[in-house]
Amino acid sequence: MEGVTVGELAAKLNKAPTEVIKVLMGYGVMAAVNQSIDFDTASIVCEEFGVTCELEDENQAMDDLFDTHYQNEDELVKRPPIITVMGHVDHGKTSLLDAIRHTNVISGEAGGITQHIGAYTIMIKDEKITFIDTPGHEAFTAMRSRGASVTDIAVLVVAADDGVMPQTVEAINHAKDAGVPIIVAVNKIDKPGANPDKVKQELTEYGLVSEDWGGDTICVNISAKKREGIEELLEMILLVAEVEDLKAHPTKKAIGTVIEARLDKQKGTVATLLVKSGVLHDGDIVVCNDVFGKVRAMMDDKGNKVKVAGPSTAIEILGFNEVPGAGEKFFVAENERDGRKYAERRKAIMKENALKKSGPVSLDDLFNQI
Ligand code: GTP
Ligand code: MG
Repeated sequence: MEGVTVGELAAKLNKAPTEVIKVLMGYGVMAAVNQSIDFDTASIVCEEFGVTCELEDENQAMDDLFDTHYQNEDELVKRPPIITVMGHVDHGKTSLLDAIRHTNVISGEAGGITQHIGAYTIMIKDEKITFIDTPGHEAFTAMRSRGASVTDIAVLVVAADDGVMPQTVEAINHAKDAGVPIIVAVNKIDKPGANPDKVKQELTEYGLVSEDWGGDTICVNISAKKREGIEELLEMILLVAEVEDLKAHPTKKAIGTVIEARLDKQKGTVATLLVKSGVLHDGDIVVCNDVFGKVRAMMDDKGNKVKVAGPSTAIEILGFNEVPGAGEKFFVAENERDGRKYAERRKAIMKENALKKSGPVSLDDLFNQI
């Protein structure tokens, strides 16, 4: 594992490399100036010079990198909105996206239940919109929370024949925590037992008062199945997006979030990325915490190969050396060497933190393991 070179360490300590080499020799370690030493060895050297050595926290560096995209306001351009569709299980989220995308994802789902996050970037009247589908089943709270944290606007789907249910409330809370506006889609209005007014009534208990009732929550009655009200809902989404004034850098190296990732037996690591700002190119070196890799292929939601992905675009990529963590930020490194170095440093930090957390092992612990 790559740590720090003798030269780099000497520079950090404000010492001549020869002094560091001398200390290392005292411990029986023969190292040249450009040779790497691991964290433990570096700590010993630091101690000799009376300095406590800590692994740098790269989170700050990551935040700073993200900030550089937004520093020069005059360089920013309008970006498409990211819309997360949330709501109780079976209320029609995937059906709504199928209606918008003219697809039929729901027919391929096991038991008709969404079990992962789907991300799609589509064109609507010359305007791009990225949609994120989330599962409504109660087991998938983390995915809903992740969906809410990357979105600009939440579309809350509530079935008109079922009303506000536990995961409807959970979705409202996620959206509120993330500070994003909520647009309500009252779905299944074609059903005999549908009662959209009852849904609106129930929503007032959670601070969502429909516009036609004097509040400021946009509510649109739809039927995903009959494809009714979809146009109006899309218009409302674009309207709210316009007010949000969403901006991104059009040319810098991409930064964004890993929406989900898995290991595929044939393809290797498959990751769905959401580009927040900048542009991701085929062949770029992507880094996500302690994993990295060269983008080998980039696909849109229909499996078509693409070469570039701009701000707010969701794409699937192949090439990470290991499965990155869902919800983690990613960035593009200058080159493979830098990417590897960053990922390996992160791995070292994580190992170090894990050791710190686990603390000393007692004899009891040891015996219990036997
Ligand atoms: P999860 O992802 O598992 O939370 O479900 P979902 O919210 O994505 O619901 P989904 O789109 O899978 O739809 C659930 C059921 O409701 C399916 O049988 C759909 O055919 C049906 N459905 C969805 N929209 C409508 C609608 O507008 N009208 C009627 N009558 N049925 C609908
Ligand atoms: Mg679904």
